[in-house]
Amino acid sequence: MAAPAVRQDHIKVSKQLPLERAAAYGQTFRCQPRPLHPTATTQQLRDQFCKPLPEMPTPGEAVIDQLIAAAEPGLVGNTDPNFYAWVMGGSDPVGVAADWLTSIWGQNAAIFQTSPAAAIAEEAVSEWLLDLLDLPRSCSVGFVTGATMAGFVALAAARTTVLARQGHDFEQNGLQSAPLIQIYISDDSHASNLAALRHLGFGEANLVRIPSDADGLMSTEDLKMAMVQTVGPKIIIATAGHINSGGFENFELIADLAQEHNAWLHVDGAFGLWARVLPEMAHLTRGLERADSWSVDGHKWLQIPYDSGFAIVKDAQAHKRAMDISAGYLNQADEDGRNPTEFNPELSRRARGFAAWAIMRSLGKSGIRDLVAEHCESARGLAEQIDAIPGVYVIGSVTLNQIILAVSHEFADPCAMTKSLAGILNSDHGVFVRTAEWKGRTVLRFSLITKGTGASQTQFLSKAIRSSLKQVLENPVFAKN
Ligand SMILES: Cc1ncc(COP(=O)(O)O)c(C=O)c1O
Repeated sequence: MAAPAVRQDHIKVSKQLPLERAAAYGQTFRCQPRPLHPTATTQQLRDQFCKPLPEMPTPGEAVIDQLIAAAEPGLVGNTDPNFYAWVMGGSDPVGVAADWLTSIWGQNAAIFQTSPAAAIAEEAVSEWLLDLLDLPRSCSVGFVTGATMAGFVALAAARTTVLARQGHDFEQNGLQSAPLIQIYISDDSHASNLAALRHLGFGEANLVRIPSDADGLMSTEDLKMAMVQTVGPKIIIATAGHINSGGFENFELIADLAQEHNAWLHVDGAFGLWARVLPEMAHLTRGLERADSWSVDGHKWLQIPYDSGFAIVKDAQAHKRAMDISAGYLNQADEDGRNPTEFNPELSRRARGFAAWAIMRSLGKSGIRDLVAEHCESARGLAEQIDAIPGVYVIGSVTLNQIILAVSHEFADPCAMTKSLAGILNSDHGVFVRTAEWKGRTVLRFSLITKGTGASQTQFLSKAIRSSLKQVLENPVFAKN
């Protein structure tokens, strides 16, 4: 007996129109100049979104129109090449199209049998990633929401493994009665690593915080001393691409220490791991391949639409053991391909492999190399232009794509001047920047990571900095020392 046919008129009226509306809007959205900054106040956004839920249904196409009207004034222009505020990405249109298909198909990438296509796309992307990043090809890859969850997954595998080495079965006994794990991490490591550790049962007092240098990177001397002074299972968390300085830790020395102490070495390479695609940057990540796990984002430098991150673990069995979700109904056959949930904390989830596959295929190896190279080259150019502006300077050297601008100490209140400079850049110059508090001062952080940001944008930005600074200096509040 055949299954009942789907009523075509029903599909057209109730399902097709909202899609047509969204597709038409999507086709023109990036073609017109748009404000980079939200234009609505918090209250105005609440007035639009936070209405009582209607008792009766609303036609889908009308809802899409309402959503566009409500959301547009609160959108941030991180897809625009003049966006420098945080280390984000530009959601490349190819990935957006693939992401639409992901939703159209409505697949659940839980297990192979819930979506063989989603599972095999992940197999393909895993292979491409390991090849591009030149990491051991036998590593396993979890397709997660971003670097925070990638760190969580990798550190869960680390926790399982270092405890198992001491005869403690974490999956059976949990953390209760487990030997104390020593976790070595820079005092300036990215906040997401601390969050991941907290979710895994480790608080601030359980960490050995290693003093950092001017670039926020661990002092290897201090790390060495701390490791000698402590006993028990050990995990080291190192950084490839510091959130502020873009700097890289000394992986050769750190990997030696990890080996000496039988420690698990995890590398947070949310964006910095992509330096691996450029031969001229090989020196930055030398030794990093000796780590046990790595976290890296797809939604940052690869421009995959949010959310996309990859947890890469050298010991696939440890990865699986930490993430295991098995049940009698989660069917698995011998001929099945990769079972996604073995590498992820979730069971049901978005088929993230499709958008990653589409972007990587569309850029190709050379496109990915060019993307990273152009941002790094433009960052160096921007730093030179900033250093030529009297009254401001770039802190440290530009290693990658991150630039930190500070106002000169010759002024009485450089931090307030930096905030004022950011305010003028944002309000008068069509760019999106943000300040940060770092090492006891207010700085302006520029991240060059959106596809399309290049020399013409950075030249425009440096001119904007020069003229905004002039305006700041004209304010009598800001005197010299
Ligand atoms: C070095 C580093 N690690 C981790 C993260 C967290 O990444 P996500 O926000 O994708 O979870 C970031 C975000 O900028 C980062 O720069």
